[in-house]
Amino acid sequence: MMDTLAAKYRSHFPILGTSCYLISNSLGAMPREVESELQEYTKIWQTEGVESWHTWFPFVDEVSGLVASLIGADAKDVTLIHNLTIGSALIASCLDFSGKRNKVVYSDLHFPTISYLWQGWRKYGAIPHVIESDGIWTETEKYIEAIDENTKLVALSHVYFRSGGLQDIKPIIEHAHKMGALVMVDSYQAAGVVPIDVKALDCDILATGVLKWLCGGPGAAFMYVRPDLQEQFLPAIRGWLGDKEPFEFHMPSVTFEHGMHRFLTSSIQVPCLHTARPALRMFNEIGIDAIREKSLQLTDRLIAKADEHGFAINSPREASRRGGALTIDPVAQASSLRARAGSPRHATKDICDELIRRRFIVDYRPPLGIRIAPHFYNALDEIDAVIQEMRRILDGN
Ligand SMILES: Cc1ncc(COP(=O)(O)O)c(C=O)c1O
Repeated sequence: MMDTLAAKYRSHFPILGTSCYLISNSLGAMPREVESELQEYTKIWQTEGVESWHTWFPFVDEVSGLVASLIGADAKDVTLIHNLTIGSALIASCLDFSGKRNKVVYSDLHFPTISYLWQGWRKYGAIPHVIESDGIWTETEKYIEAIDENTKLVALSHVYFRSGGLQDIKPIIEHAHKMGALVMVDSYQAAGVVPIDVKALDCDILATGVLKWLCGGPGAAFMYVRPDLQEQFLPAIRGWLGDKEPFEFHMPSVTFEHGMHRFLTSSIQVPCLHTARPALRMFNEIGIDAIREKSLQLTDRLIAKADEHGFAINSPREASRRGGALTIDPVAQASSLRARAGSPRHATKDICDELIRRRFIVDYRPPLGIRIAPHFYNALDEIDAVIQEMRRILDGN
């Protein structure tokens, strides 16, 4: 069963011809246009040598602009960063944690890298406050209770990486602002599959990598900062490309460029901009609303099929709380989830390994189960097929 999106775009992704690729929350499929993009990169470098920088510097803004239009931002308010961890460190390095307002709030469902960073920032006075979730979802109320007048920053995970749960971040941002706190949103698992409008959300900072749902390959991430905050932010992590006149090589101190380029720090990941461009163009052409509509059809189908077989769904079921992926455990029941948290290796992992051996590309995240992340290029039949294959493996076939 091939809908129009899959019919039109599948042929751009060669891996779909050789596998049932259901892992776009980990590494999106590579568009075939990436090959010619990389040839373009080597051609520019080979023929223009050092003059390539005249092409490469404006290229940062071009690709940042493609990300900006996918998150409702103006192009000038988004720029390239190395990854979300470094983006968070850049922001952390703008903030003063020496006073009473030093609390950093995030959920225990956040991707660990954020926790590692903020725990490390204790050295500079930050006091991480980790909200305890139920393992799948974090109630908005828990954020509201945790964010108080001592909160400096809330690090929100837009879609949780393990369960695929989509957090309604607007009321949390509103409350944080009432309390005088900033909010940094990690949209890694949302961008490319869930519509984002940074202006409507009144986001202070939002960052995402492009390797997952945005099918842009590893190595590049992008960050939005609210225009009125940009000039206030003076990152202590700073480099020569953040200077107003980088080729004047001023000593000893930086004079920050106006706007987002102050966050550029140092040498930029040019090949990664090339790998990111084809899919970003494609997403702009399709529009995220159409992708979301298709994604909900795919996950609706996944829920229905998993239910038919009695497999546990360790993700929120409501459409409004679902990102693009669902985590399914064909072995255990959801109720025993917490009890199993301490013994991550079990038969579900073996089923996942066997699925991969049979070219159903998914992954395993203990204690929740097997993450299945279909994207706009997948056909509904592939959902039926992966669930059917789980059944076969369980039945010893
Ligand atoms: C929600 C989320 N945040 C962040 C990351 C990665 O962060 P970084 O760009 O620092 O590697 C991932 C996955 O790799 C993720 O799923």
